[in-house]
Amino acid sequence: MSLILNGKDLAEKIKKELKKEVEGYISKGLRKPALAVILVGEDPASKVYVKRKKEACEYVGINSLSFNLPESITEIELIELIGKLNGDEDVDGILVQLPLPSHINTQNIIESINPDKDVDGFHPLNMGKLATGMSSGIIPCTPLGIWIMLKHYKIELFKKDVVVVGASNIVGKPMSLLFLKNEEATVTVCHRNTKDLKSQTTKADILIVAVGKPNLITEDMVKDDAVVVDVGINRLENGRLVGDVDFEALKNKVSAITPVPGGVGPMTVVSLLINTLTIYRKKHGFSVHPLTEI
Ligand code: GUN
Repeated sequence: MSLILNGKDLAEKIKKELKKEVEGYISKGLRKPALAVILVGEDPASKVYVKRKKEACEYVGINSLSFNLPESITEIELIELIGKLNGDEDVDGILVQLPLPSHINTQNIIESINPDKDVDGFHPLNMGKLATGMSSGIIPCTPLGIWIMLKHYKIELFKKDVVVVGASNIVGKPMSLLFLKNEEATVTVCHRNTKDLKSQTTKADILIVAVGKPNLITEDMVKDDAVVVDVGINRLENGRLVGDVDFEALKNKVSAITPVPGGVGPMTVVSLLINTLTIYRKKHGFSVHPLTEI
């Protein structure tokens, strides 16, 4: 039986600690941390994610400011709103939920966010800091959450082969940069044009899958004793939520595996809280958040 990497319980534990941390700031007479959350359009999955993020903010005592904008908003209008939030001293972090409607250029929006308020860590300056190994940038939430989970469960990275499947800017690329940071693991990144996916995944001591295809990773594609982290969240026609990995087939084969739901998802949300507090702490002259010391 594999070790189940329980992101849900770990996220709850960290949230309790963050709640205490925020109570400490308030008791010192400081204002509440604040996160602006921008949602454009009516995408059902995005609405669910934003709701979870806002609930988690409220729980720990972060003020979440909602901006629910119609699908028809123009790129210029969105950039104007972000400009106002950039200049608002009482707003620590700005999050624009992705994906955006196709008439809006996502990169222009990401680049319009003040890098110091870029709670997702998607701004090129923060991505660049991650790529060059500088510690002061913000690390994207899903990779940070996975990192914290692996460290919590004492998963050894030194001299391991890590294979990341999926090369998105949100997960795959920053995840691989994070693994490279301390030159502990050797990292392979696979994507839609990888010639022979199975020949890569079977080499993995640690396999991270972030593609968005149910059951992409089957039992024969993973070696015994691998650690498997499933970032996928896919809703099947029968309503069931599944990841990108065949969990049932793998759960007795590998050494550790994340479930879906209850694995990476809650860790992504908790990392958003950590990043908001990282920005808040920097603004108030506190040291870096211990959970982001990588
Ligand atoms: N859409 C899917 N994942 C994310 C994320 O981590 N941040 C934002 N802003 N949008 C997303």
